[in-house]
Amino acid sequence: MTATLFTGIAELVTNDELLEGADHSEHLGRLSDAAIVVQHGLIVWVGPAAHAPPADERRDLGGRAVIPGFVDSHSHLVFAGDRSVEFAARMTGVTYDGGGISSSLDATRAASDDELRALVGARVAEMRAQGTTTVEIKGGYGLSVKDEARSLRIAAEFTSETTFLGAHVVPPEFASRRSEYVELVTGEMLAACAPHARWIDVFCEPHSPHAFTEEEARVVLSAGRAAGLGIRVHGNQLGHGPGVRLAVELGAASVDHCTFLSEADIEQLAAASDTTVATLLPGVEFSTRSPYPNARHLLDAGVSIALASDCNPGTCYSSSIPFVIALAVREMGLTPAEALRASTVGSAQSLRRHDIGTIRLGNRADLTVLDAPSYLHLSYRAGVPIAYALDPIGSHES
Ligand code: NIG
Ligand code: FE
Repeated sequence: MTATLFTGIAELVTNDELLEGADHSEHLGRLSDAAIVVQHGLIVWVGPAAHAPPADERRDLGGRAVIPGFVDSHSHLVFAGDRSVEFAARMTGVTYDGGGISSSLDATRAASDDELRALVGARVAEMRAQGTTTVEIKGGYGLSVKDEARSLRIAAEFTSETTFLGAHVVPPEFASRRSEYVELVTGEMLAACAPHARWIDVFCEPHSPHAFTEEEARVVLSAGRAAGLGIRVHGNQLGHGPGVRLAVELGAASVDHCTFLSEADIEQLAAASDTTVATLLPGVEFSTRSPYPNARHLLDAGVSIALASDCNPGTCYSSSIPFVIALAVREMGLTPAEALRASTVGSAQSLRRHDIGTIRLGNRADLTVLDAPSYLHLSYRAGVPIAYALDPIGSHES
């Protein structure tokens, strides 16, 4: 198969801390005037352009920066309907408690397979156009055996990182029968969904009457683990709570949101930094007018962090990782380099993936180009669409 040599890379961020000859300040493994050779979709050579080997074809990126493709490790893309009115209400002071999820349920259940597939496809394309090359997709807007199974079947057409979220909220028809719903999620629904999922997740949130308690979440996650799924947790979003404690106890790959953390939570996350990543979703704080978590403090305490979009119809209908990076830098105390690492190698860790998030030999050639000379422009040029996933066939460069 054809080997392609990419040149004209003014700055290459690899995240490879062992790359010879690279600038290792801020752990970015940076090279200037770099080249990459790609074959069979994998990286087969990385180094200074002056030493590049011959290849079958050559593409000049015109003096742009190249970074590892963004890994968006938390999204809810399988939904129909529109909830923009809720966003407008929140901007005038209405608080979020998870209740709006049930309005997405009706629209999602009513959509045909083809309609849902088209909606997910358009959202994934929107992500690629902004530099995301891997996306995790959760179900959670069907909340019946049939609708959760089809949500995951459709999600699996777009990614291998699919997550069963039957325990998103208790659906209205089970409002007075919570324990029956937990039985359904851990029984028939899990059996129908596990073949299409890699992960299981629960909205564990005592501050929402719609979400799940610590005990309910433990039961759901343990059942998922017994069915062979990896564990993720929505926790500590609306107030202090048990999410982090539970995630660490169960060896979850990720606990997501972490908006309200106690010092004890932070100590537990730091002690579990090889196992459990704290995934921060600042687009949610933006869209719900909530306080931002202190990412600086987490990193300084030794916590492994990731950044992701949480793209969903309720709390953040933005699919833009550059927007998330800009928020993390402006509002959460991260340097541009830390924010870039958190949205690439950090989010890859939260998915327990080593073949993405870092540009090094043998890894997937998931490359994102910046229409700029340096990665610093990601947050410096906030709101400007400079990042796009490199399409091996079409070409943006001239
Ligand atoms: O990640 N935490 C719950 N789930 C989504 C919100 C879903 C919604 O409101 O539709 C979240 O914020
Ligand atoms: Fe979410």
